[in-house]
Amino acid sequence: MKQLHKQSSSRRDEEMPISNSTPYSPKSLKHPSRSLTYLLKEQRLVFILVGILIGSTFFILQPSLSLLSSAADSRPHIVTENRESVVNYPDHEESGHDYENRHFADLNTVGNGNRYSNGVGRVPVGIGSKRKRIVVTGGAGFVGSHLVDKLIARGDDVIVIDNFFTGRKENVVHLFGNPRFELIRHDVVEPILLEVDQIYHLACPASPVYYKYNPRSLIYDYKTNVMGTLNMLGLAKRIGARFLLTSTSEVYGDPLEHPQKETYWGHVNPIGVRSCYDEGKRTAETLTMDYHRGDGVEVRIARIFNTYGPRMCIDDGRVVSNFVAQAIRRQPMTVYGDGKQTRSFQYVSDLVDGLVALMEGEHIGPFNLGNPGEFTMLELAEVVKETIDPSATIEFKPNTADDPHKRKPDISKAKEFLNWEPKVSLREGLPRMVNDFRNRILNEDEGKGN
Ligand SMILES: NC(=O)c1ccc[n+]([C@@H]2O[C@H](COP(=O)([O-])OP(=O)(O)OC[C@H]3O[C@@H](n4cnc5c(N)ncnc54)[C@H](O)[C@@H]3O)[C@@H](O)[C@H]2O)c1
Repeated sequence: MKQLHKQSSSRRDEEMPISNSTPYSPKSLKHPSRSLTYLLKEQRLVFILVGILIGSTFFILQPSLSLLSSAADSRPHIVTENRESVVNYPDHEESGHDYENRHFADLNTVGNGNRYSNGVGRVPVGIGSKRKRIVVTGGAGFVGSHLVDKLIARGDDVIVIDNFFTGRKENVVHLFGNPRFELIRHDVVEPILLEVDQIYHLACPASPVYYKYNPRSLIYDYKTNVMGTLNMLGLAKRIGARFLLTSTSEVYGDPLEHPQKETYWGHVNPIGVRSCYDEGKRTAETLTMDYHRGDGVEVRIARIFNTYGPRMCIDDGRVVSNFVAQAIRRQPMTVYGDGKQTRSFQYVSDLVDGLVALMEGEHIGPFNLGNPGEFTMLELAEVVKETIDPSATIEFKPNTADDPHKRKPDISKAKEFLNWEPKVSLREGLPRMVNDFRNRILNEDEGKGN
């Protein structure tokens, strides 16, 4: 103790070498001349001035620094209006998923572990309101646009994400100007950050015609199914949204079980000409279940069977649109193979009802959503003839590779758990589609004449 006392007193002496006769007292600094002497000694004044300078520099720069950092954080935030907006990603060189992981990891580590505590908190849509904010990827496509109509009519806020690969602005143009509708031109292969309650993930180039013209589009199809689904699942995980995947009956391939139940694992050629689509959807289902099991994301899976209705792409190569367009144009209807292969055809409003029931229900699925009424291609051609032109003819062509022989959904699971079943028969639904196709084909022809 003695030693310590000695040391501390000697250090104090070093600091205050005023006079041995004058004991140290802080009060003595209050004397102006002594204070000045104290300040001027050992360049103390310089140190004080430098300290003030550094302090004031920090306070001047701090607001602009915080502005800069918030601008960086908000990079993937999309400000959307009732018109399409283009999304730019400055770091395009890095892969979408890397970017997503890095960026969202940053977001998630901010705050006290609460993913909403970092400035991207969910904005309440309305206090006490049950109105939801919903994203529909592929919402400018055939099925997506009908789904959006239903959600808007129900009173929800809907954001459509679409890159217009196979979709059309015309499908949603009637919603432009509606304050509850937003449209973002965006490729789901790239990540995006939005705050929503539910995600309907439909984006996928689904029509066979694109594959025929450009086999590389199948690779893009696969990329959309894998990267796009990963991005949307990542978004669902981070914002706590419920996610619905629109898968397909193609996951059953050329089925060995008939009709197909959800428990059937399928019979898919992994290296065939359409495998990118089939396997892409199978992978998307796998990812969806892994995000559910591994990360607790609330997911739903719909396996959609052939669907038809207004706003389908006219020349997309699907059998119903092909027959209808050919009959209206007075061309022979093309039947591939012997025409005895079967399909079931579901009217689009039935599908949309099923998708909403699935999203709102408590069951994950997968659920078959399709009309169990089974038709051969020749029977379908007959119904089209009756509806459009009794004198329409049929032209046979060799069948395409991997064309499934039979397709018919077993929908007992959807009936039991979703209380859903289709209501519109082919003979009722077809005329509604024909009116839309007639108008569009007529407009096309008029356009050509100009
Ligand atoms: N219509 C059917 O008979 C049927 C059958 C089985 C499954 N499905 C599934 O239902 C969904 C909707 O099908 P649809 O018939 O409406 O097809 P569609 O081609 O009319 O719609 C798909 C939409 O996704 C968009 N899209 C494609 N790739 C995208 C991308 N990378 N980023 C953003 N948008 C992209 C397209 O532009 C289009 O608007 C698809 O996932 C499809 O696989 C449909």
